[in-house]
Amino acid sequence: MNVLGIETSCDETSVAVLSDDKLMANLISSQDFHSKYGGVVPELSSRAHLQIVKPLVEDALKQSEIKLEDIDLITATAGPGLIGALLVGFTFAKGLSFSLGKPFVAVNHIEGHIFSGFLMEEKPEFPFLVLVVSGGHTLLLYVKSFTEIMQLGTTVDDAAGEAFDKVAKMLGYGYPGGPQIQAASKRGDENKIDFPIAGLKNEYDFSFSGLKTAVLRYIQKNYDDVNNIPGNERDDIAASFQRAVVTALINNVDKALHKFDVKSLSLVGGVAANAELRNKMTSLAEKFKLKIVIPDLEFCGDNAAMIALRGKTLFDAGVSHTLTAKPYPSLSPDQFQAG
Ligand code: KG4
Ligand code: ZN
Repeated sequence: MNVLGIETSCDETSVAVLSDDKLMANLISSQDFHSKYGGVVPELSSRAHLQIVKPLVEDALKQSEIKLEDIDLITATAGPGLIGALLVGFTFAKGLSFSLGKPFVAVNHIEGHIFSGFLMEEKPEFPFLVLVVSGGHTLLLYVKSFTEIMQLGTTVDDAAGEAFDKVAKMLGYGYPGGPQIQAASKRGDENKIDFPIAGLKNEYDFSFSGLKTAVLRYIQKNYDDVNNIPGNERDDIAASFQRAVVTALINNVDKALHKFDVKSLSLVGGVAANAELRNKMTSLAEKFKLKIVIPDLEFCGDNAAMIALRGKTLFDAGVSHTLTAKPYPSLSPDQFQAG
């Protein structure tokens, strides 16, 4: 079975071809031009998707050595994401489905991340606990099967990736901030500043807004201008901030592992690219003698391989969507298992 996946929820246009369990292509075109605006400009993102989506589909098919008419299933990200951006890939996919007379499956982007570990050779085993950390979401989930997902915790304010991006901006780094904070953290002293870790009513929830404010206050208190922070002190702030985020994330996963009996642990989403977080999650899995599955970097950030894979698992479970399906910009809990 040949599955075509299209992802255009934010600032990456991605097209993948999955042939049975073999990934034939996973092309990702990143819109780097947003960095000069300090964040993603929705309208520019939609226009760029529009220009690249068709040639990217052609390239992915060429690389896969699969003809368009040999595609058996079309899948695309339905949301959450930027509505104008989503519309481009979603509408293109529906058009292909109509013209080829092939089934269409609309995929929840977060579900794509949740099951991205299945793109690896060593796959998660059910039930598993997964920490989803991206630019828009921070979720701790108990996953019983491909169709049963239970939410244990979420963020009450900023997402983990959002916190990385905002603090990076405060420190004068460009967008996206995560990779730059990680690079600076390697040079800095993570124990230099004791930034706060929020405690919340639901023990599995997260909050990063207080931490973000604490970093801002620290900068304002100690420096007259962000440009005057000496390089080594900037690195210390970045490292201390990263330690606080990673500790907050790991603490909640640790608590959940004490309570829930699982076979594996998974870490997914853009922030799963963070080396420190990957190491700490791996150590945690070792402590609980669990299998750990953290996707390769190409499957952590937004990619269409995870969309094709999730679409296929839904199709195998009997799900398909009509061409009246619409994309949705935000996530509501009942959109989780629904597919
Ligand atoms: O999953 P993703 O590509 O897009 C969304 O669905 O949001 O996640 C993007 C986020 C950004 O906030 C980016 O700063 C963060 O992932 N990120 C990182 C790293 N690489 C990307 N955060 C921390 N450390 C990294 N190495
Ligand atoms: Zn994502």
